Amino acid sequence: MNTEQDYGTVAILLHWLMAVLLVALTVLGVYMSGLPDVGFDKIKLTLIVYHKEYGILALGLALLRLAWRVGNALPALVKELPDWQKVTARFVHLCFYALMFALPISGWLMSSAASIPVYFFGFRLPDLIPHNEYRFQLLVEVHKWLGYALIGFILLHAGAALRHHFISRDNTLKKILPGSRL
Ligand code: HEM
Ligand code: HEM
Repeated sequence: MNTEQDYGTVAILLHWLMAVLLVALTVLGVYMSGLPDVGFDKIKLTLIVYHKEYGILALGLALLRLAWRVGNALPALVKELPDWQKVTARFVHLCFYALMFALPISGWLMSSAASIPVYFFGFRLPDLIPHNEYRFQLLVEVHKWLGYALIGFILLHAGAALRHHFISRDNTLKKILPGSRL
């Protein structure tokens, strides 16, 4: 469990598992979207299937993480931080939660609008909306820009964490590193 000062083991494991998963999904998404559509070659199709499957896994983990976050104490930020930095840090965390849901749901909606089924490790998930070409194109754009927003927030968040560790030399990064509570 979290305490008022520290993140607990579950929060730490979920943080890093999801960090790796979301970065991998973003890199894979950008890479596969750049592959030529001509003939819709097999590699592109295979990568899209993996992207969708692991994207749904990210949605499941986001639900678990939100439940854990709501049912746990929220560790305090470094006391000496100016208010604007505290507000920005909490705002970025909130945006991450929004993106952890908005990205996979927009992907799922996009596939439904194109009538392309979504599978979760062999199990077919229901379509969320009926076939509609216009909505499909719109959702492709929405999904893409949410992905770019995620990249921006990751750079900001990771940059701030490294600055805390190497320049301010406080315990911000240490408290979320594996081993800090093990
Ligand atoms: C947290 C989870 C996810 C992340 C971070 C993510 C991220 C991305 C990114 C960055 C792209 C590239 C956009 C571009 O440059 O055009 C992309 C493409 C795509 N994503 Fe996701 N995605 C996630 C979940 C999903 C899910 C759950 C589905 C479907 C069930 C999905 C379906 C797709 C498809 C079909 C494309 C290719 C769109 C195209 O260009 O035609 N994604 N994703
Ligand atoms: C996709 C990537 C990432 C996401 C979505 C993410 C999300 C979050 C969220 C939502 C929190 C608040 C605690 C919680 O509710 O779990 C958090 C805390 C934190 N993250 Fe990340 N994170 C990512 C990557 C990183 C990386 C790469 C670093 C370090 C280089 C990092 C360092 C930290 C630190 C130090 C905290 C603790 C902040 C504090 O409470 O003082 N994160 N992260």
